[in-house]
Amino acid sequence: MGNFVCIEISSDQTVDRFIRFLRGKGYIRNLKKNLRRERRHDINKGLKLSSYNYGKSVYLLLEEVKNLKSEGNFEVVAEPAPTSGVEERPTQSTIGQDKLLETAWNRLMEDGVGILGLHGMGGVGKTTLFKKIHNKFSEMASGFDVVIWIVVSQGAKISKIQEDIAQKLHLCGDEWTNKNESDKATDIYKFLKKKRFVLMLDDIWEKVDLEAIGVPDPTREIGRKVVFTTRSREVCGRMGDHEPMEIKCLEPEEAWELFRNKVGYNTLSRDPVIVQLARKVAEKCRGLPLALCVIGETMASKTTVQEWEHAIDVLNTSA
Ligand SMILES: Nc1ncnc2c1ncn2[C@@H]1O[C@H](COP(=O)(O)OP(=O)(O)OP(=O)(O)O)[C@@H](O)[C@H]1O
Ligand SMILES: [Mg+2]
Repeated sequence: MGNFVCIEISSDQTVDRFIRFLRGKGYIRNLKKNLRRERRHDINKGLKLSSYNYGKSVYLLLEEVKNLKSEGNFEVVAEPAPTSGVEERPTQSTIGQDKLLETAWNRLMEDGVGILGLHGMGGVGKTTLFKKIHNKFSEMASGFDVVIWIVVSQGAKISKIQEDIAQKLHLCGDEWTNKNESDKATDIYKFLKKKRFVLMLDDIWEKVDLEAIGVPDPTREIGRKVVFTTRSREVCGRMGDHEPMEIKCLEPEEAWELFRNKVGYNTLSRDPVIVQLARKVAEKCRGLPLALCVIGETMASKTTVQEWEHAIDVLNTSA
């Protein structure tokens, strides 16, 4: 009947207690499953292992547990989980945003930073970077309970922002609907006060009154963050971030890379003159990703030198 695995856990009470502590984490929790898997693996490799070997591996494992306990080194067995409920947002591949993402993420994760603004001209890539920051919460452990993404946009009212936040926090219902703005603010406040939260406001055009919405002051306690994007440097200051991050246009080589990708190899490989003209068109976009993307995509179907020359004429007259 094959090799049965007989696991005899030591009666040592300390080890027992420690095993209970480890339940729910990693290898030990799934000890039986892991041993079964190892056994299958060994059998697949053509090895005939006896229960003695398994008894031995359990013994070695318990020794390791004892050592870990004596070192107090528990990180090895307990991996913190990513923030739950953060749904990844679709993003496109980008040029030159990796470093920015790292800088923004590191700033945001600093304990002393409660509010962080990203500013830059329209089409420069603020929302794109913002999505990447958001997605990082879904990928890795950040220590936050809730991450809320809200698109604010021009003219947004307090009530609309409250509604969006309440929806994300599942506070809505008949009772909620009948409340006035101030009571809704109290509900949001009561909920968020107990949480480690990140509120992400995309595209704000003026100061957002966090208190009126019910958002606990992010500068008063660690574990509260408000991060936003805006076109206006002034709005950053009014929101309380006096050292906001500026998102700048792409460097010339980055711009060319983005443009070249959008136009595509098929078109560019038709004629070396098209490549020269394409470089000129890319320069006209002055590193603005939105322009590079839109014009690049449009030019992808222009396969004659004449069409490219015409495009340059048009850009010259509209500049
Ligand atoms: N670094 C980049 N690499 C590739 N594409 C980019 C990059 N930055 C932005 N884009 C593209 O440019 C377009 C505009 O970007 P985005 O919407 O992020 O700009 P924005 O700064 O938020 O603009 P707005 O102020 O109007 O909200 C998007 O289609 C995006 O995919
Ligand atoms: Mg945007």
